[in-house]
Amino acid sequence: MHKEDFPMLEEDIAYFDNGATTLKPKSVVLAMDKYYTEHTSNIHRGDYDAAIITNKLYDDTRKLVKNFVNCNSDKEVIFTSGTTMSINMVVFGYMKKHLSKGDEVLLTKSEHASNVLPWIRLSEEIGIVIKYMDLSSDYSLSVESVEKAITSKTRVISIAHVTNVIGDVRDIETIGMICASKGILFCVDGAQSVPHIKVDFKKANIDFLSFSGHKMLGPTGVGVLVGKERLLDDMDPICYGGGMNSYFEADNSYELKKTPAKFEAGTPPIAEVIGLGEAIKYLMNIGMDKIHDYEVELKKYLVAELEKIPNIILYNKNSESGILAFNVEGVFAQETSIYLNHYHIYVRAGNHCTKMLKDNLNVKNTVRVSMYLYNTKSDIDKLVSALKNSQDIFKIVI
Ligand code: ALA
Repeated sequence: MHKEDFPMLEEDIAYFDNGATTLKPKSVVLAMDKYYTEHTSNIHRGDYDAAIITNKLYDDTRKLVKNFVNCNSDKEVIFTSGTTMSINMVVFGYMKKHLSKGDEVLLTKSEHASNVLPWIRLSEEIGIVIKYMDLSSDYSLSVESVEKAITSKTRVISIAHVTNVIGDVRDIETIGMICASKGILFCVDGAQSVPHIKVDFKKANIDFLSFSGHKMLGPTGVGVLVGKERLLDDMDPICYGGGMNSYFEADNSYELKKTPAKFEAGTPPIAEVIGLGEAIKYLMNIGMDKIHDYEVELKKYLVAELEKIPNIILYNKNSESGILAFNVEGVFAQETSIYLNHYHIYVRAGNHCTKMLKDNLNVKNTVRVSMYLYNTKSDIDKLVSALKNSQDIFKIVI
C-alpha cells in the first residue's frame, strides 16, 4: 500500500521496525521543509504573515488530533515530546497530587518501560502500591483478569492499548466502562495503537491517552497527551516558562493559563507539530479500519509462512495486530537481526524495553517484526526466504 509515498523505500529494503519508529511520507517531510524554508516563525507571539500561517497550521493540528481520537474538545489535546513525556506528565503532574500512600495502580508485565518506571518512581515518592494484573497463557489481558485485580483501593489502571512485543489488542472499551463505573482513572498508552487502529477517547471512557508522532508517520520529537478537560484543569505542569503563564510578579505571585497552553511551556516543536498534522491527514485519508485490517492480513500470511519452517519459535501468532515476536531455535535474537540486515531486512531484536515480560515469556530477547501500511507480501516473502536459510546465520554473522 502506497510504497511510492515513502522515499526510504526507493532503496531495496524491507522495513519491519515500525514499533520502534515509522518511515515518513513525502507530504510530512514537505510540510516541515516548507515551514523551515517559507514561514519560519514562533507561534502565538507574532503578528506578521509568516507567524499567522504557522499559528494556523499549529492550531489546525490540534483540531486534527481531536477529530482523529474523538475527544471532546481541542483543549484536551496537549503537544508533548512523545508518549514517555505524556505519561510522565500524568504521573507527576496529576497522580502525585491526587494519589496517596496505599492507593493501588494496576499495570501488566507487558507494559513498556515508559508505563512502568514513572509509577515505580511515584511509589518511592508517595507510597502508592503497584500491582501487575495476570496475563493469559497467550500473554493477553482478559477483562476477567482486570476485574479480579480490582480492589477497594484501586485508583488507576494504566495499560497499553496494543502492547509492543505481543501486539495484543486490549478491550479498552469494556475496561474503560469498568473503570468509569468504579471511579478508577483509566490511562491508556496508545503508542502502538493510535497509529494502527481506530482509538475513540470518548467511547472507551479514557481519562488520559498518550501517543507519539514518530510511530504514526510523523516526525520524532512530538507526541500527544489527551486528557479529560476537568482532569487537566486539576493537573499541574511539570515544566514552567514562557507561553504558559498569564502573569508573574516580583512578590512571587503568578497565574497560569488554562489547558492546553498551561502544559506547553517554551517554544514547542513547531515543525514537528505541523508534520504530525500531515501524518494524521495521511492516515485519515486511508482510514484506520483499512490500515488495521491490512496489517492483520499481512500478519496471518507471515505466520502461515513461518509455521512451515521447523526451527522458528513464534510467541504471539494469534494477536490481532501487525506485530510478531519470534526466535530462530538456538540463535540469539540479535544475531538473527544482524543476519537479516545482510539481506536489507530491518527488524528489532532484544527485550524491546519490556523487561518484565520475560517472567511470562520465559525468554529475555526476541526478534520482532512490526508491520505498517507500506509493508507488502513481497517484503514477507523476502524475510521468509532468508529465514529458510537460517543455517547461514553463523556463516554470515560471525
Ligand atoms: N517503544 C519502541 C519499541 O517498541 C521503542 O520499539
